[in-house]
Amino acid sequence: MSNHIPCYQPILDDEMALSKAEKSIKALSAERNDRWYPLFHIASNGGWINDPNGLCFYKGRWHVYYQLHPFSATWGPMHWGHVSSADMITWRREPIAMAPTLEQEKDGVFSGSAAIDDDGTLTFFYTGHRWANGHDGSDGEWQVQMLAEATDDNAIHLKKLGMIIDCPREAVNSHFRDPKVWKQGDTWYLIHGVSSANKRGQIWLYTSNDLVHWNFDRVLFEHDDPQVFMLECPDFYPLQDNAGHTWWVLCFSAMGSKAKGFMNRNLNNAGYLVGSWEPGSAFHPLREFKLWDWGHNFYAPQSFRAPDGRQIMYGWMSPFVPPIPMQDDGWCGQLTLPREITVDEQGDVRSNPVNEITQLRIDDITCGSLSLNVNEHRVLIEDAQAVEIEMDIDIAHSSAERVGLKIHSTDDGAYTYVAYDAQIQRVVIDRQATAYGDRGYRAAPVPVETEHLNSLKLRIFVDRGSVEVFINEGTEAMSSYSFPSAGRRSVILMSESGEALISSVHIHHLKSIGLDTDQPAGRT
Ligand code: FRU
Repeated sequence: MSNHIPCYQPILDDEMALSKAEKSIKALSAERNDRWYPLFHIASNGGWINDPNGLCFYKGRWHVYYQLHPFSATWGPMHWGHVSSADMITWRREPIAMAPTLEQEKDGVFSGSAAIDDDGTLTFFYTGHRWANGHDGSDGEWQVQMLAEATDDNAIHLKKLGMIIDCPREAVNSHFRDPKVWKQGDTWYLIHGVSSANKRGQIWLYTSNDLVHWNFDRVLFEHDDPQVFMLECPDFYPLQDNAGHTWWVLCFSAMGSKAKGFMNRNLNNAGYLVGSWEPGSAFHPLREFKLWDWGHNFYAPQSFRAPDGRQIMYGWMSPFVPPIPMQDDGWCGQLTLPREITVDEQGDVRSNPVNEITQLRIDDITCGSLSLNVNEHRVLIEDAQAVEIEMDIDIAHSSAERVGLKIHSTDDGAYTYVAYDAQIQRVVIDRQATAYGDRGYRAAPVPVETEHLNSLKLRIFVDRGSVEVFINEGTEAMSSYSFPSAGRRSVILMSESGEALISSVHIHHLKSIGLDTDQPAGRT
């Protein structure tokens, strides 16, 4: 494969660059403050992370790589961090997989994906990033698509093979990144995000027979909002409904989308369109744009097709708005739980935690049906570090304006609110009383069909510094950081200005996925 690579210019020694990065992470993790460090979400042991990258199942293990800046808890020259797992339940920390060592990626190995080639080799497609003026972002970026492959069964060592798609810089407003590759029939397809010369967010499509030589096929999609100037981390895959009908899901993380009502409240926002597509044709959206997640902190998701056919997606819990207090603790950023994406016969997409997550449960404490008086508070859990709460709210028999949970509730009066708000008919995560970090609230819609309005099903995952909520079996999801004060973190059931009927509550304490304690890198 390497014979055909047009461009490969090393400027640093890989081993030296990787070992310098490892040393820095080790120093950061030795000093790390764990008050908010996740117990059941993937994070780096030190430094900054963003997007999930290179997701795959290879030779018996699940692999998650991620954008990593190993030298501080802020964004900087990107590396690829790596964790792996035999069961998607317990994870192993692996050595840093890539550092920027080629001329074409001088300022960072940016996001990308994985595919298993026709010979069974695990292959990676990623973006080589350089600042256009050679030193900072003031004159834009110069980005190209790169190739690498795993050289060992544990996908620990990645061999870089060089540039495969150069940037036609005159046709592009400098953003040109995040390749995603898949095979259909005998042809390989690659898409990546582009800001066009006239600053429109686009997704470009290429084809190849050998994963090395790529032919531009077409602009697969252009965002219809002229304010959206870049579509980061595009993803594109078919999903089958129960009747055997195929829907294509086109995902992107839009830069420049403006907030409107409850929509697009974050700096940048990730969502999808469901439609139809045939090779050799354009993508036709059939449904309206939807957000993947309504929380404060969700961006740059990537998915992959597991060998058992599941489409599994991870997002990055993006801390876009300062203050970002975990940065004081030597680390910054975590991924969401892995989510299985499914579609029904109407083309409605759902995202739910993969089934494996139930195996993190240590116990099942059943509370039965509970009625709350007007303004009642009832402590459900005295001190919750890592818990899942399954809760059915009988909305038809509740008069409360808000009914739900105060999580991360501490003696100083701080808490984060996760509740159904009857006035707006939405589930809210409200951080107005959260101890640290950015505030504000987010609100996810609850489907209006009567069957759903009568009863609202919530699955709420509380980790040490975050909350993730799945509504009505994955019709909507929400992910937000929540940084509690010191001391006991209670979970309190509450009803506000009215009574509430909770038909059932199950509490599960969750065990750690194994990344919070230091493991020697590369343990097998
Ligand atoms: C999205 C993103 C990608 C890019 C990477 C750089 O969060 O900006 O477009 O490849 O992060 O870290």
